[in-house]
Amino acid sequence: MSSHSGLRRRLVLGGSATLLSAPLAAAQRALTPSQMLGPFYPVTPPLHQDNDLTRVEGRSGRALGQIADLSGRVLDLDSRPLAGLRVEIWQCDANGRYRHPRDRGDVEEDPNFQGFGHTVTDAEGRYRFRTIRPVPYPGRTPHIHAAVIQEGTRPFVTQIYVAGEPLNLRDGLFTRVPEALRPLLLADFVPADDPVATLAAEFDFVLAPVLAGLFEANTA
Ligand SMILES: [Fe+2]
Repeated sequence: MSSHSGLRRRLVLGGSATLLSAPLAAAQRALTPSQMLGPFYPVTPPLHQDNDLTRVEGRSGRALGQIADLSGRVLDLDSRPLAGLRVEIWQCDANGRYRHPRDRGDVEEDPNFQGFGHTVTDAEGRYRFRTIRPVPYPGRTPHIHAAVIQEGTRPFVTQIYVAGEPLNLRDGLFTRVPEALRPLLLADFVPADDPVATLAAEFDFVLAPVLAGLFEANTA
C-alpha cells in the first residue's frame, strides 16, 4: 500500500513538472515551412505506386544511388499524431533526372527508380519510404519533394533537404526560408544497419490540419 502511494506521489509530481514545462515546449514547436510544388510533380500516374521508390514493378534491378530509408511522423502542434493522411514524395533519380516529360531528355534515365511514392500514416502518424539519398541537379541542392494530403483541405507541400549538404546555402529555395526555420526542413542521412538501405533519415511534418479544415469549411 505504501509503495502504491509512493508511486502515486511520484506520478502527481511528474504531472506537475509536465504542466510547468508544457508552455515552454509548445513555444519551441513550429509548423513545418511549406515550399513550392515545383515543375516536376508527376503528370501521368507512375507505373508502380507504393512506398519503395527503389524498385519498379516488373523489373528485377534496384535503383542507382545510395539507398536510404526515410521515415517519420505527421503531427499537429501539440505533438498529436495525424493518422490516415496520404504522404507523397517525388525526386529525381541518381542521374539527376525526374520522371517527367518536361525534364531534360539528354540525361539518361534510371529505369529502376520509381521517382514517386506514396503511403498513408498509421495510428501513430508514422510513415516510411525506401528511396535514395537525393542528389543535386543543375541549380538545385539535393532535395526530396513531399506532400501531405488530407481530404477537404489544401495539400501541404514542402521540400526535404539533407543536413550538412554544402550546396544548401547556395540554393535559392532553401535560403528563402528564414534561417531559424531551416532546421525544420533538414533530414540527417546517417549510416544504417540494413543490408539494402545503407542510410536512414527521419523527418517529421508538423501541420495545422484542424485549423486548415475549419478554414476550408468556413469559406466553402
Ligand atoms: Fe526538385
